Amino acid sequence: MKPANDLEARFFAATPRSLERFSAHADATPGGVAKGAYFYRPYPLTMERGDGAYLFDVDGNRYADFANHHTGQILGHNHPAVMAAVQAQLQRGVAVGAPMGHETEVCAELCSRVASLERARFTNSGTEASLHAVRLARAFTGRNLIAKFEGCYHGSHDAVEVSVAPPLEAAGPAERPLPYAQAIGMSAGAVADTMVLPLGDLEATDRLIGEHAAELACVLLDPKTGITTRHGVLMVFDEIVGFRLARGGAQEYYGITPDLTTFGKIVGGGFPVGAFGGRADIMDRYHPTAGPGVGQSGTFASHPVTMAAGLAMLRELTPAAFEHLASLGDRLTRGLRKALTACPPPRDYRSSLDADKRWVSPLFLALLDRGFFLGHTLGMCSISVPTTPQMIDELVEAVADALRDPAVKTAATDG
Ligand SMILES: Cc1ncc(COP(=O)(O)O)c(C=O)c1O
Repeated sequence: MKPANDLEARFFAATPRSLERFSAHADATPGGVAKGAYFYRPYPLTMERGDGAYLFDVDGNRYADFANHHTGQILGHNHPAVMAAVQAQLQRGVAVGAPMGHETEVCAELCSRVASLERARFTNSGTEASLHAVRLARAFTGRNLIAKFEGCYHGSHDAVEVSVAPPLEAAGPAERPLPYAQAIGMSAGAVADTMVLPLGDLEATDRLIGEHAAELACVLLDPKTGITTRHGVLMVFDEIVGFRLARGGAQEYYGITPDLTTFGKIVGGGFPVGAFGGRADIMDRYHPTAGPGVGQSGTFASHPVTMAAGLAMLRELTPAAFEHLASLGDRLTRGLRKALTACPPPRDYRSSLDADKRWVSPLFLALLDRGFFLGHTLGMCSISVPTTPQMIDELVEAVADALRDPAVKTAATDG
């Protein structure tokens, strides 16, 4: 493997041990990575450890972490309260095929924080939470069609991996988008059962929901995107990322009352997790004595270690922690707006397609070179509680500096 340009040459020079690790078992998985999100060009860094707001790779390089495990690590790495809770749980056993107590405590903690949540259940991932929320909405309403907004992601199951990032030529009219299967191998039936709504066009959304209300079970949306009540359709609010916005979630922040909510990421304290919940009359379809109901199971759902870590993490997320995160977020937004004056912010999914994506990978590598680890698409980024205002200012300066770097421009524009 050889560097393709000066920017990659710097990366190769700084990370020889990562290249060694990446190459060592590259044939054992497709493309040398055990999960898709770990891959970027020329090869992914192998991390040695995380500590607070920093990551250290196997070559000893330190990075300020602005990815935080795909937004899941809101307290940074190895938070003492989370580590203590995990260690205490490990002394009692890892998984015993029976409740160990923390699972209902986490449900109660979630219900006490999120106004619309009367009952909650656990899954192993956000994808599973979304899958079961959709099935529950269908069971509760007796309707089959579901709806989601163009450009939004709700997990990797067939019902929702529709029109996540459709090419414009396959997306249909702006006010009546066509469902586009985002992955090869998806069930054509599942795709046809999903209606796509135009993000940012309230009038067209209202019209489409109204036209299909009699057959529509639910509308999924995430905070990056309320009409449903009027049409008697359930709203499933995706808080898998948004729950890091406020103590009561993005729904508290935006003043929205959904029927069902999906969670993931931070709820598990850094361990695999998903959860969903909402109105008691809907969730009670799972009541164990209610007779034949809606199925939802999972060998590792409500895993005791996840529950212990999740409870510890939630309890650290005080109003002061959210205020700190919001003020860092404002500082970063203001700083980046100044540094990126040439880039108009996208209004909706279709206007985001105007962005020149050739700059993404060079900018990501240039930021690694300057000691910052972001999501490699630059999309899945987040701030953790141990981040300081100074780190935010340094990131803004690094972005401005990277954009002035001739090696970045060459990598972006020379193919
Ligand atoms: C908004 C949103 N919903 C759902 C999911 C799926 O969650 P998971 O990756 O835990 O399956 C993600 C994952 O990134 C997400 O960002």
